[in-house]
This record gives sequence, structure tokens and C-alpha cells, in this order.
Amino acid sequence: MDGSRVLSSVVHSQVQLHHPYGGVVPELASREHLGKINTVVQQALDTAGITRKDLDGIAVTVGPGLIGSLLVGLYFAKAFSYALRIPYVGINHLEGHILSVFLEERTPSFPFVVLTVSGGHTTLYHVEGIGRYTPLGQTLDDAAGEAFDKVAKVLGLGYPGGVVIENLARSGNKDRIRFPRAHLGADSLDFSFSGLKTAVALYVKKWQENAQKEASTSDIAASFQEAVIRILAEKTIAAAEKTKVSSVVVAGGVACNQALRDRVKDMAARCGMTLYYPRPSYCTDNGAMIALAGYHRISRGERGDLSQDVKSRYPIEDIPIL
Ligand code: KG4
Ligand code: ZN
Repeated sequence: MDGSRVLSSVVHSQVQLHHPYGGVVPELASREHLGKINTVVQQALDTAGITRKDLDGIAVTVGPGLIGSLLVGLYFAKAFSYALRIPYVGINHLEGHILSVFLEERTPSFPFVVLTVSGGHTTLYHVEGIGRYTPLGQTLDDAAGEAFDKVAKVLGLGYPGGVVIENLARSGNKDRIRFPRAHLGADSLDFSFSGLKTAVALYVKKWQENAQKEASTSDIAASFQEAVIRILAEKTIAAAEKTKVSSVVVAGGVACNQALRDRVKDMAARCGMTLYYPRPSYCTDNGAMIALAGYHRISRGERGDLSQDVKSRYPIEDIPIL
């Protein structure tokens, strides 16, 4: 990072590795991290046209996430920092997603509402500044991305499911099947996707047993996607209205979904609000967003020390206030 300019962003995807298992296998994930971390860091330096001596700080994710993978990253960062005599700082993964929009040229001004929606999280935050994040609502069970992955699995479409469902949905009728929505109270900004996930799974089971298929696979994908994006978009706008902000942001893997972006954008425009979003490669997990959060924290004097540990659970309320 040079200010907030990205010099390089290298991501080693493990999608192919976990694909046969239909989800992430923790033991395989940490082994792969260990095997690849050196190469990925060297590639990032080479692409940026710099050497490790040009670095003046290191940012590393310390949670929430899988302990084994987090440990590989943290101990690599500690060793790098110690050897180069430069500071490092531990970052909350969610802060990376919340700030990822600032990797773009088009950025919101504070305060704004951000929906972070991925395979592990579905949360709305009110953001008043760097390090000042108030959760407004979150999923009470599954994350939206998890629902995409599960539905893709029951339809036999493989893992991860988001992109496949989105592509299929383009040729389907989103109004063909009305999947139920969870009733969490009129003012609730929380989400629930496990009922929807089960409803789709039951529908698909009956549908597979029935030779006379009225709906196509694309119709099921489109109707499911519609149920998810409707609720995500409605609650994002409701959160913005409640907190009286005029900028909304969508971030995290599911925010790659164009139908979701279009819906939030339309609804926001009708309410006099503007939508901001990171490009897809900054929506899915990436090092650039962690580097950005680290840049702000290190510039403000925050430092990690050798006693720092990883956290499988790391609520946003626990991150140090800047
Ligand atoms: O942020 P991310 O890369 O990793 C987590 O922290 O979870 O998000 C991955 C999730 C997966 O569940 C994947 O199915 C979903 O994001 N996803 C999508 C799309 N692209 C990725 N969901 C819906 N539509 C997409 N286009
Ligand atoms: Zn993520």
C-alpha cells in the first residue's frame, strides 16, 4: 500500500482444493496456507516491483476464522516483522470487508451503512469513521453465502455456489416459486436464512421425485436468489433510513452478485441514497482490504506484539478503537 493505492494484490484461491468436499476442510486449508504463503508474499512484492526492504509495515488477519489458517498467517507476519524490524498489526477480517470500498476511487463519506455479506457473515453496520463500527443487525443462523452454497449443493451444481446460482438465475423466472421469508418483527434488522435454505431443499427433493417438472433448475435458482436479495436489499435500505445516512455500501463475497447490486442501487436511488461497492476481486477475500485496514491502524500508532494470538470468534465490538 502507498497511502491507499494498491501496488499489487495476489490471491491464491483454494476453491479447486475444497471443491470435491462441497465446503472448506479446515485441515487442508491450513496445510495449503503453509505451503503457499511464502510464494504468495514474494509474488506480491515482485508484482509491486519492490523488495521486502521497502516495506514499512505488515497487516495480518487475526480473526474471525479457522484457527489453523489464521495461525499460519500470524506467525509468518510476526517472523517477518521481527526479522525486518518493522511493525505489524493484527486485523479483524470484517474490518477489511467494511473498509474494502476505500480501495476504489468512488468512495462514500462518513457516516454510511454497510452490508457485509459472505460465506461466513451477514451483518449491517453503521460506520462513523475508521474503527467506529456499530452492528445494526445480523443473521441469526446461516450467512447468505452459506445459503447460496447449500442450495447449489442440493441442485448438484458444486461449490462455491454463488456464481453458479447467479449465472443460472439469469435464464430463470424469479417469480415462478415463492419461497417463504422469515418473520423477525417489523423493525428487526436481523436476518435468517436457514428456513429458506430448508424450504428450497424440500422443494428440490419433491421436484426431483416428480417427472412432470413445471419449474426448471434456472427457475429454482432465480426464485431462491430473488428471496435472498429482496431481504438483503430491503434491510440495507431500512438500516440506512433508521440511521439517516445517504450512502450505502455492499461488501463481501455475495456482494459480487450483480442482481443484488442492481436491486440495492435502484432502491437506494428511490430513497435519495447512493450505493457504493468494491469491484468483485475486492469483495471476495483478499489481502488488499486487510492491508488498507492495517495502513490506517499502523499510521495511527497501533502495533501488534509477540503475545498477540488469533481468535476464531472476534466480534467487531472487540477491535481496538482508533
Ligand atoms: O467473502 P468471501 O470470499 O469469503 C468469506 O469470508 O466467506 O465470500 C464467499 C461467499 C461464498 O459463499 C460464495 O458462494 C459467495 O460468497 N459468492 C456469491 C457470489 N460470488 C461469491 N454469492 C452470490 N452471488 C455471487 N456472484
Ligand atoms: Zn470474507
